[in-house]
Amino acid sequence: MRITLISGFLAVISLTPVGGWGAPSKVCSHKVKETVVAPHGWVKHSVPPADHTITLRIGLPQPNFHILEKHLYEVSDPYHDRYGAHLSKEETEGLVAPNPESIHAVNKWLESHGIMESDLVRSPAKDWVTLTIPVNLAEKMLDTTYSVWKHKSGDQLVRTTSYSLPEHLHEHVELVQPTTMFGRFRRDKSTIVWADDSEIAPVQTFAAKILDSVSGVAVDPTCKSTITIKCLQQLYNTVGYIPKHKNNSIGITGYLEQFANKQDLQSFYAEQRPDALNSSFKFISVNGGLNSQNLSEAGAEAGLDVQFAFGLSHPIPGTFFSTAGRPPFKPDVGTPTNTNEPYTEWLDFMLSSTNVPLSISTSYGDDEQTVPESFARRACAGFAQLGARGVSLMFSSGDGGVGDNDPNPETQQCFTNDGRNVTRFIPSFPASVTVVGGTTGIPEVAVSRFFSGGGFSDYFPRPKYQDRVVQKYLKALPKGTYKGLFNPNGRAFPDVSAQSDRFRIFLSGRSILIGGTSASSPAFAGIVALLNDVRLSRGLPSLGFLNPLIYSKAAAGFNDITIGHNSGCGTTGFNATKGWDPVTGLGTPNFAKLRKLVV
Ligand SMILES: *[C@@H]1O[C@H](CO)[C@@H](O)[C@H](O)[C@H]1NC(C)=O
Ligand SMILES: *[C@@H]1O[C@H](CO)[C@@H](O)[C@H](O)[C@H]1NC(C)=O
Ligand SMILES: *[C@@H]1O[C@H](CO)[C@@H](O)[C@H](O)[C@H]1NC(C)=O
Ligand SMILES: *[C@@H]1O[C@H](CO)[C@@H](O)[C@H](O)[C@H]1NC(C)=O
Ligand SMILES: *[C@@H]1O[C@H](CO)[C@@H](O)[C@H](O)[C@H]1NC(C)=O
Repeated sequence: MRITLISGFLAVISLTPVGGWGAPSKVCSHKVKETVVAPHGWVKHSVPPADHTITLRIGLPQPNFHILEKHLYEVSDPYHDRYGAHLSKEETEGLVAPNPESIHAVNKWLESHGIMESDLVRSPAKDWVTLTIPVNLAEKMLDTTYSVWKHKSGDQLVRTTSYSLPEHLHEHVELVQPTTMFGRFRRDKSTIVWADDSEIAPVQTFAAKILDSVSGVAVDPTCKSTITIKCLQQLYNTVGYIPKHKNNSIGITGYLEQFANKQDLQSFYAEQRPDALNSSFKFISVNGGLNSQNLSEAGAEAGLDVQFAFGLSHPIPGTFFSTAGRPPFKPDVGTPTNTNEPYTEWLDFMLSSTNVPLSISTSYGDDEQTVPESFARRACAGFAQLGARGVSLMFSSGDGGVGDNDPNPETQQCFTNDGRNVTRFIPSFPASVTVVGGTTGIPEVAVSRFFSGGGFSDYFPRPKYQDRVVQKYLKALPKGTYKGLFNPNGRAFPDVSAQSDRFRIFLSGRSILIGGTSASSPAFAGIVALLNDVRLSRGLPSLGFLNPLIYSKAAAGFNDITIGHNSGCGTTGFNATKGWDPVTGLGTPNFAKLRKLVV
């Protein structure tokens, strides 16, 4: 393929008369499609190697997306007649398909650069076209110049801050990436507490009980300092519930070479979930992602996620997805291509699959402002398709409070990226779908060893289902609080929360304590899987997109967390309050109540 492309490219040049360099691109004049300011921490480093290739993704507009969105809200609203009438894969694809004129216009443009149908990979709905081409051809097509950019952490990316398209193509192309996308998708784990076993292996007899004043349930006192499966079962009221339905499922996503070790899972089960011993998860590789079972390569994030999500939901079948691609990436002769967008690749894979787990947790994200708005919207449109198909997606809210995703207040950066460089709270991405914040202790309060990510999106407006509770919260804020630091009309997050600190897991054969909103998201996803069992066992469809339900009919099924705050950006952040707040959302799940509210 590359040979075809390059010869096509050379053919154009050889026809160019002397002095006419650049003439072909002037035939149809280019107009800037998107411009960004490189996020903080990135500097232009060098020229990409001549043999560097780029896997370009072209997003065609989805003119009927608003119809998909309408379906999504209807089938997710517990008070609507169509609640639970989820769409099929083919139906959602029909609703995101581009206009034939757009497909045609893009084809013509690609052909004019010597790119043929056989060089392309199209998504099932034909709303994405993917092609791998030399960087100099991408530069010509997009009338731009790519550079190697270097992050202060050492990560490298081949990106540009602006790209153009022929004017007539603007209405037929929504976005082209990787161009202006600087997101790095870090994991949200804040800290691992390595401790010796005497400190972290308390005798949990579960005979002595303390009453949790928030939930009203009795919990073993040792759960104050060490969270185990049993602690969460007591605290979230799932004790004695045994999932039965055969068609239920739960998934964990893994990135950045985070490997989920099966031997560690067995050690964990032996200690905390003996009835699950010998059971394991299914591994699915996305785009060549690996899951090394070398014990010394076990990933803390992956271990935490699979041990708690699958430990809580056993025997519901669990799947671990590992997606390839990670920074740091050194664009050199040995590694000529790296799109660094494993996130989109996972989404593509799920949208193309007929069999998608019904409850999925992701503990990786980045600051919203490192992700171009056009990209954020398309990712969100992908989540909407999965939601319409009956899948519940959980994301951790981040560990930096109202600041960026850096839990260290000394190095946290709270400046806008829009060229103005003004101080602002930094929302996380994706702060869409169902976002899970963090709590700690018994009775539960907002976590404070790091701070539960929370706030308001600068890209997405507040959805209707949040209006009542978020307006109530904003109204109670003293007038002028944090004026200019956040967007009071933005999508507010988190939606819910769960315990997030001092989780006892096994890593490379050792028991450790680990914390972060990375812990709360898989824990919450485990509870959602149990709730799906309640529904499926009654012959009802899965829960799907949760938010319209949890902000209305199921709101009474949460333990309201009213103590704590989420510091960041040199402020004390927002306060947890009675009702919804941008620290702990609606609160933590009470399964015994929720199971009655979701049917
Ligand atoms: C599970 O799904 C399969 C395939 O869709 C279906 O045939 C079967 O009846 C389902 N089982 C139950 C218990 O609902
Ligand atoms: C797991 O397998 C071992 C060895 O085959 C067996 O002794 C044990 O009873 C099994 N445990 C469970 C819970 O199935
Ligand atoms: C396991 O991984 C470690 C660390 O990467 C490596 O040093 C070791 O050689 C690996 N062992 C095997 C058997 O591959
Ligand atoms: C933004 O402003 C802060 C504080 O004045 C400064 O430390 C930082 O270097 C500035 N960043 C850029 C990219 O101008
Ligand atoms: C949080 O609560 C403290 C103590 O009551 C108060 O001083 C502060 O203004 C509150 N902050 C916000 C943002 O509501």
